[in-house]
Amino acid sequence: MTASPIYLDFNATTPVAPEVLEAMLPYLTWSFGNPSSDHALGREARRAVDEAREQVAALIGASRDEIIFTSGGTESNHLAIRGAGALMTTGRRHIVTSNVEHPATVGACAFLEAQGWKVTRLPVNRDGAIDVRGADEAIGDDVGLVTVMLAQNETGAVMPVSDVAHVARAHGAVSHTDAAQAVGKIDVNVDRLGVDLLSIAGHKLYAPKGVGALYVRSQTAIEPLVLGGGQERGLRPGTENVASIVGLGVAATLAQSRLANDVEFIGNLRDHLWAEVSARIPGLVRHTPIERCLPNTLSLSFPGVLGREVLQRADGVLASTGSACHSGVDTPAETLLAMGVAPDVALGAVRLSLGRSTSLDQVRAAAEILTTAFVSLREI
Ligand SMILES: Cc1ncc(COP(=O)(O)O)c(C=O)c1O
Repeated sequence: MTASPIYLDFNATTPVAPEVLEAMLPYLTWSFGNPSSDHALGREARRAVDEAREQVAALIGASRDEIIFTSGGTESNHLAIRGAGALMTTGRRHIVTSNVEHPATVGACAFLEAQGWKVTRLPVNRDGAIDVRGADEAIGDDVGLVTVMLAQNETGAVMPVSDVAHVARAHGAVSHTDAAQAVGKIDVNVDRLGVDLLSIAGHKLYAPKGVGALYVRSQTAIEPLVLGGGQERGLRPGTENVASIVGLGVAATLAQSRLANDVEFIGNLRDHLWAEVSARIPGLVRHTPIERCLPNTLSLSFPGVLGREVLQRADGVLASTGSACHSGVDTPAETLLAMGVAPDVALGAVRLSLGRSTSLDQVRAAAEILTTAFVSLREI
């Protein structure tokens, strides 16, 4: 690998922002109090957690008592789906979701399905998003919960969540969205979306791994997944991960202040990357249309080769494929198949996701390296 790799995998995880690390350090060192302790160190930890709650709430237009800190996107999705599900009456044990959700949502829905819930998985169209009319038809008065992700992690497709939440509300259903990939990348506001529950993952927005949040609209009832102390209103018991929570708070404030710039800067680089690569590789396929895609994400397929092999040869470019390789057999990404992408085209897929530290030089170099990797494979 070259000396400094070109990281194009920001949808997998982001580095911790320097401001975030700096804010966290006191809580990993001298200011180590337990927020439940009634002395100076404890009170300082409580103050820091409360401040972070305000900061996360401000990013999504919520109020601070609507934020529950968790360990990340996976837990937030489970707390939302299983936590709301546990309180649904028998006549409402029907979930409507999409067929391209993150495994955390898939798992939470499957958990309830195994307990007798009906689960309707709405198909996505060629753009990678569900159709609002399909949601309208599927959501009736028997539906207790609707969970549709705001932005798809592999394709960057942005879903019509506000329309879906509107229909859910009209039928008395609770609506949840997994916004792990959207928060910090596009404007996310819980009232404009109209959702009752919204999941956030810290490590997708320059906070550390292992911290996240669930927005719970006031009056929305959920049950905790585990029982213990009264932390996080009893919905997420256990001593708070103070340093990481502080980090998430600062990351939220940073995201809020940088959002407009980040969207423009990163979006331009992403478009430049596509322009450079597609000009050199005839037949390159782009999976998600620009107007319905996260500004940082480029999901594309190289023609006639495996995306996995392109990345193996693209020395110094760190990105991901949605496909899996088991015992030497490549299987295409389910998400692309769900969009109607042909299996052989899906096998050529690569996800390039950009972030704050991506530069024009990196984009140019990546385009060159990816093209060379593709050409060398075609020559074989
Ligand atoms: C859309 C989406 N939801 C949930 C998660 C899970 O988040 P975490 O890794 O914080 O558990 C991810 C992470 O890849 C994601 O992309």
